[in-house]
Amino acid sequence: MRRPLIAGNWKMYKTSEEAVWLATGIKKEISGFKEVDVVLCPPFTALYKVNEVIKDTNIKLGAQNLFWEDEGAYTGEVSAKMLKDCGCQFVIIGHSERRKYFFESDEWVNRKIMSALNNDLAPIVCVGETLEEREKNLTIEVIEKQLKGAFYKLGYEEMKKIVIAYEPVWAIGTGKTALPYQAEEVQNFIRRWLKDNFSIDCADNLRILYGGSVKPSNIKELMREEDIDGALVGGASLEVDSFTSIVRNSIN
Ligand code: PGA
Repeated sequence: MRRPLIAGNWKMYKTSEEAVWLATGIKKEISGFKEVDVVLCPPFTALYKVNEVIKDTNIKLGAQNLFWEDEGAYTGEVSAKMLKDCGCQFVIIGHSERRKYFFESDEWVNRKIMSALNNDLAPIVCVGETLEEREKNLTIEVIEKQLKGAFYKLGYEEMKKIVIAYEPVWAIGTGKTALPYQAEEVQNFIRRWLKDNFSIDCADNLRILYGGSVKPSNIKELMREEDIDGALVGGASLEVDSFTSIVRNSIN
């Protein structure tokens, strides 16, 4: 059985002081809650301090991006090795905001995944279609292209550490959650794709999260779907109450 995973993507919110406050609140509410893997992804500047808060709990730390070289003259970039040094175990790669505003290509996503894996970080790889693509019936084609690009040349052993997040772009930050069956349709396709391109084991064990306007009120019905193993939460991860309610509601 796949273990549920709820990750909070704090995006470009929270100073380090605010981040410590939020992480402390979350820890009070849900450390000791053992049925779900919980990952907090603060901005780079708060990683070290949030790690200080959660390091002795089962809450895990993740980053929101990385650059694929370990070090070098790359002004403004942060490497997997540096994230590891801050206590990260996870890293979000290929989020639609990075694809849109920072022009990340599938090839870049692939390089970033390789670098994360080489540094023992588990990538949370985001895929998703825009509204226009959905309306043109291109959803599956777009997702397949993103999967092919992201996992190019990866082996079965490497796939074991991957988490995929299906995030329809039209549902991110819009309050418009995909209906559970719409998410399931795509997530089931992703699982079949994994079976065809890697193995049955890979398809059975790899966790596929849903992301896009997840709230305490809709997580239960999403989690009832066969191929939804958790959520990548943006807006609702910025408050202790909403995030911890999502964690709690994800298992019943
Ligand atoms: P949202 O963001 O929950 O605010 O829609 C999700 C995400 O971007 O990961």
